[in-house]
Formats: sequence, C-alpha cells, structure tokens
Amino acid sequence: MNSAITGVGHALPPQILGNHDLERMVDTSDEWIVQRTGIRERRISDPATATSDLATEAARRALADAGLQPDDLDLIIVATVTPDHAFPSTACLLQRNLGAWRAAAFDIVAACTGFIYGISVAKQFIESGTCRTVLVVAADTLSRITDMTDRNTCVLFGDGAGAAILQASDRPGLLSLELGADGRGAELLIQPAGGSCLPASEETVAARQHFIHMAGQEVFRFAVRSMEMASRNVLDQAGLSVDDLALLIPHQANQRIIDSASKRLGIPASKVFVNLDRYGNMSGASIPVALSEAWSEGRLQAGHRVLLVGFGGGLTWGALILEWTRGGEAHD
Ligand code: ACO
Repeated sequence: MNSAITGVGHALPPQILGNHDLERMVDTSDEWIVQRTGIRERRISDPATATSDLATEAARRALADAGLQPDDLDLIIVATVTPDHAFPSTACLLQRNLGAWRAAAFDIVAACTGFIYGISVAKQFIESGTCRTVLVVAADTLSRITDMTDRNTCVLFGDGAGAAILQASDRPGLLSLELGADGRGAELLIQPAGGSCLPASEETVAARQHFIHMAGQEVFRFAVRSMEMASRNVLDQAGLSVDDLALLIPHQANQRIIDSASKRLGIPASKVFVNLDRYGNMSGASIPVALSEAWSEGRLQAGHRVLLVGFGGGLTWGALILEWTRGGEAHD
C-alpha cells in the first residue's frame, strides 16, 4: 500500500506585525531584519485565538480540498510546540472542533520539523494498513512564547497553521523520507520553564524563562548542514538528482539559511519556494503553509517531484520527496 497527499490547506491570523512596528518595540531596524533574515512582516494571533483555532481552520480547508468529510478521518496528528494546554492534546481539541468522531488523535513535538515528522508517522499508519485517511496539521502560535523585548528572537517568529490529508493510494506519493535528531543540541533552542524540569513559579516568570531561548549562530550552522545532508540523502534514496525536482520547499527560518543550503545543493532560486518575507518562521507550520500556497498558486502539477526539508528544536531535522499526484487545477 502507498500513501499520497490528497488535500492541503492553511490558516493565518489576519493581524500583521511589520518590521517598522518592531522598530518601535526594540532596538532594531527594518534594514537589519531584511538583510539578516529576509523577513518583512509576520502574522500574530489575537488573544482569543489559540493554536487549535488556527489548526481547525487549516484542517477544514484541507478536508474541502480533498473532498472529504470529518467522518472520513481515521487519525488526527497535530505537530506543535505551542499546544493549547499541556493536556488534553491539541489534536483532541481539533477532533472536537471538526466533529471527527471516528478519528484517534494525538500530538507530536518536533518543533520546526513537526510537519515532516507528522507525515512520516501518518505514512506508517497507512502503509501498515491500520488507517486509510490521516489528517496531519502543523500549527503554532509562537508569538505566545516569544519575548517581545528580546531583539534576538522577536523579529523572527510568526503564527500560522498548515494541514495535509494523507490517504492510501495505488500510486506512490511519498518517494523517500529521512528523519533525524540530536538531543545533544537540546539547549540551543528551548523554552526552559513550564515543564516538569522547571515548573512555572514567580521566579521563572521574572527570569523570562517561559519564552524561546535560542543560540542563533549555532542553530544557523546546524540548519545549513542538516538541510544539505538530509536533502542529499532523500535524493539518493529516491534515485533522483536535483534536476528531477520541480520545487524545493524548505523550512522558512532565514533567507540566508535557504540561500546557503540551496546553493550547496545546486538548486536555482527559481525552484525554491519562499514565503518567509510575509510570515517569518512559523515553526512546523512553515512547510505545510508553503505547500498549500504552492498548490493554490498553480506551482504544483501532477507528476511534479517536490523536496520538503526542515530543521528545528530538539535538535531535529527531516526531509521527504513527494510526487504530486493531483491534476493541474488549483484549489480555492
Ligand atoms: N536588530 C538589530 N541588531 C540585532 C538584532 C536585531 N533584531 N538581533 C541581533 N542583533 C545584533 C546582535 O546583538 C549582534 O550585535 P553585536 O555584534 O553588537 O553583539 C549583531 O546583531 C550580530 O548578531 P548575530 O547573532 O551574529 O547575527 P546573525 O547574523 O547570526 O543573525 C539570526 C542572527 C538572524 C538569529 C541568525 O543567527 C539566525 O537566523 N539563526 C538561526 C535561527 C533559526 O533558524 N532558528 C530556528 C528556530 S526554529 C524553532 O525550532 C522554533
């Protein structure tokens, strides 16, 4: 049994936070942010919008795109580092919002690699014959854990959700896949407090330990290295060369990371999908939002081979090559 993506969708909060807004909040400039990251603006959820709300909107769009009903779902996987609660899982809240009563539901944590991890898990459930239809959503409201007084991080992140439906298929829709992790780098990207290691207290709040802490330069070096390595590995596994790819959809953390990795791989900029200028880094949501936009913009045709590659907290990385199995028509 094979599996293939049969529907995609995404959701973004309407409120835009531009670089000039950030100039009024911290000691930064539009010029610095654009030159060092490529980001011009990002979306920020209002206080009433939780991760599950964005996930629900993206999931409804993916279901509609696939022509399915919530009742068709056997399993819901949500990849997030900003769940609504530690428990219940955001996947259970999404199941409730959709009314997908037949579906089992659970969350996974792989930070910015979450969508690729989620698709990999879904693939195993389908190809083992356990499930026929799985919804994978990567959703994050990073603004909730971003320190808006820290210029090193607050310029980078935004909120959003991307969803995909993976279904049993006669034709192979996923050609190759690689996942990796290196827990020795766990402290390089971390929300230190709020878990069992450092429960919330007046001291942790005062020390701003509930926000993202990041060693930017180390993560930058790891990102370029891991994206190149994982991409080469999935190309080798699939017996393909970069010339066989119609599109590269990298994690959207920093334009310089994307440029370095694609240059090392020899992939021209015209084949690289970029939306970080508009949304910043949305953690796991970045890749599926880009995939959904690529589909709606008509950049995906049946038979196209697309390389998805990501890296993130954990440390984690992952890549997969999919063959787009759907016609040339664009969705709404
Ligand atoms: N505005 C102005 N100056 C700034 C800003 C800012 N927003 N941020 C940092 N600076 C300053 C620094 O303080 C430093 O000043 P100094 O030389 O006086 O000390 C100077 O700019 C250079 O800082 P660097 O950290 O060397 O800047 P760099 O070019 O490395 O860019 C960045 C920093 C953008 C964070 C880069 O390292 C990066 O993108 N790293 C990877 C981040 C990433 O991919 N994160 C993934 C997170 S995903 C997840 O799992 C949630």
